[in-house]
Amino acid sequence: MRSRPDPTDRMFRRKKPENDAEQSRPEDEMIVVVDRSVNPYLVLFHEPAGYRAEQIRALRNRLVTMNPDGEPKSLVVTSAVRGEGKTVAALNLAMALAELEHHRVVLVDADLRRPSCEHYLNLNAEPGLSDVLLGRAPVEKLLRPAGYRNLMLLGAGTRVGNPAEVLSVGRIDELLRRLKERFAYVVIDTPPVLPSTDAGVFSARADGTLLVVRLERSLKKQSREAVRVLQDMGGNLLGTFVTELRGKDPESDHRLAYEMVRPEDE
Ligand SMILES: Nc1ncnc2c1ncn2[C@@H]1O[C@H](COP(=O)(O)OP(=O)(O)OP(=O)(O)O)[C@@H](O)[C@H]1O
Ligand SMILES: [Mg+2]
Repeated sequence: MRSRPDPTDRMFRRKKPENDAEQSRPEDEMIVVVDRSVNPYLVLFHEPAGYRAEQIRALRNRLVTMNPDGEPKSLVVTSAVRGEGKTVAALNLAMALAELEHHRVVLVDADLRRPSCEHYLNLNAEPGLSDVLLGRAPVEKLLRPAGYRNLMLLGAGTRVGNPAEVLSVGRIDELLRRLKERFAYVVIDTPPVLPSTDAGVFSARADGTLLVVRLERSLKKQSREAVRVLQDMGGNLLGTFVTELRGKDPESDHRLAYEMVRPEDE
């Protein structure tokens, strides 16, 4: 069941589109509310000035540094098995990238088995990736504002019986080509690597892949195996995205806080 948005939470109105071709889309005026109770780990949204959000921005900055020419790039976020934090990591990273000026960013929910981007963003499920891959609609028609800056979302779309059959290399290449014409970064949330080949297929077609490792839960053997599978399938592994580091809550260490001082406080 979808929880009701908290009226005290912040609302974001999408800026007017820069591109004339998009001017008539009614969704551009849509207000999206991201509800903290749906997923508190979307730290870019809920605690933008906090330590964890800064860590995500540090990762973003490293990725941007790895792309000195500023070419449009596609990035897969995946992990070895279920529930390691892929979707949250992909959402936070996409939000951090969308904070950069003049960077249009799209998040693609490529988990056709257990999609959750729309749920975490408190959006209804609508046609998306599967519909594009099946040729039912052009991708431009199915992009929606995600509720954070200029971040757009391509949801997983209509449920399909056998996702592996929909994910043909040719269709994925065409989709990524079209998205990279419009966006500086395409962040792709995928299912886990070990139970199906979906993540490997996307990883092989994308420019880079990040592997999420949940330190308290992920098994080293499985993460290693996932790295091997991704590399065997031709993925370009850029690094790991480690979450749930053991130890004291960083927010409680005042030395790690470095908040903005407003002029009136000085
Ligand atoms: N950094 C984190 N620390 C603690 N819990 C987290 C963190 N990131 C995500 N979670 C929680 O872990 C659960 C799984 O997160 P998420 O849905 O992102 O994982 P996933 O790898 O995408 O799962 P699936 O394999 O089902 O797609 C969620 O309840 C989420 O709120
Ligand atoms: Mg997920």
